[in-house]
Amino acid sequence: MTSTPEIHRGLAGVYADTTEVSTVIQETNSLTYRGYAVQDLAAHHSFEAVSYLLWHGELPDEKQLAAFEAAERALRPLNRTESELLARLPETCHPMDVLRTAVSLFGAEDPREDDNGEEANLAKSLSLFAKLPTVVAAHQRRRRGLDPIAPDPRLGYAENFFHMCFGEVPDEEVVRCFEISLTLYAEHSFNASTFTARVITSTLSDLYSAVTGAIGALKGPLHGGANEAVMDMLDEVRDPADAARWLDQALAEKRKIMGFGHRVYKNGDSRVPIMQGALDRLVAQSDNPEAPRLDKLHAALREAMFERKQIHPNLDYPAGLAYHLMGFDTPVFTPIFVMSRVTGWTAHIIEQLSHNSLIRPLASYDGVAQREVPKG
Ligand code: SDX
Repeated sequence: MTSTPEIHRGLAGVYADTTEVSTVIQETNSLTYRGYAVQDLAAHHSFEAVSYLLWHGELPDEKQLAAFEAAERALRPLNRTESELLARLPETCHPMDVLRTAVSLFGAEDPREDDNGEEANLAKSLSLFAKLPTVVAAHQRRRRGLDPIAPDPRLGYAENFFHMCFGEVPDEEVVRCFEISLTLYAEHSFNASTFTARVITSTLSDLYSAVTGAIGALKGPLHGGANEAVMDMLDEVRDPADAARWLDQALAEKRKIMGFGHRVYKNGDSRVPIMQGALDRLVAQSDNPEAPRLDKLHAALREAMFERKQIHPNLDYPAGLAYHLMGFDTPVFTPIFVMSRVTGWTAHIIEQLSHNSLIRPLASYDGVAQREVPKG
């Protein structure tokens, strides 16, 4: 008789490989990208510089950053085929479906699709980084019956995204808050979507296929879809005075409370204090009449959840409300996460290829024992 193997359902606690891209340091509850604390990166560097760091391993000097920004700005526009094909998707489809389709289309168009050399993959990564905001913004506008706005090469990454969505760039504080969220969302080791990208890459498939699969993984509400689900929850509860009662009922029904809990952090997500600080500043200067009520409700649910379950919020909890107050439609929140995480995914794809081994675990069979096929 063979012994029963130890099962790690959900691969919880399993180290599947090594990585040089980022790590969560449990002792200090901190997250580093290429060795730098993420809060220091968010405070002192642009999202473009952080993206460069994730791909190249070092922060850019002034000249490198200028060249990187110029290359990114030149790659933003969609060609006519891309615009027309994406505009044929149903207006009602989820923007994550639009993004998944867009990445698949970019792959089909790219003659370098199957070139898995580092140089080609860095070029494809930069192209995705530049074009995905154009896709997201066009769909945000289409949902509101508006024509797309072309990217403006005079604007930085974050400013340009607001310009393409709303035709204007908001106050500096709002842009800062958005940039901080992008830096915090950019990378998080072997999370589900990154691991998906690495599994696809490990078969020696192409970068576009890996990113398409990663988008599918991120869409789910247990992963990136949670930032949208947080806003749906705030819309459902509405009144801060109802927060505790609503939570008691939801927990009694064994519902998962969106934006709370984490597979790796058990004493709080290290990114939350930074994002919560940015959200507080956003609320303080918001002219949205709903901001004070939403802020109170947000705090009331967080406190009630901690009192009852001692479970902390994750990054999606403050980010979801921040994106709402910036004016984005709820279904666009997870696509914004994609715009950022595409940097981490592609850094991992390149790393996977640098020491590739096919990812193919085992399963312990517990189905029926071998039996005779009925004859005739
Ligand atoms: C992201 O991996 C990453 O790095 C992901 C991410 C990234 O940057 O890539 O950080 C982004 O995906 C954040 C997570 C977003 N998801 C949610 O907010 C959805 C709600 N949260 C969960 O369902 C849950 O906390 C997970 C999925 C995030 C983590 O799940 P685990 O590690 O599998 O833990 P679990 O579901 O087994 O929970 C352990 C216990 C259970 O209670 P008991 O059965 O032991 O009594 O904690 C409870 C759970 O019921 N619990 C919750 C809860 N989270 C944990 N109960 C209610 N609501 C919750 N949110």
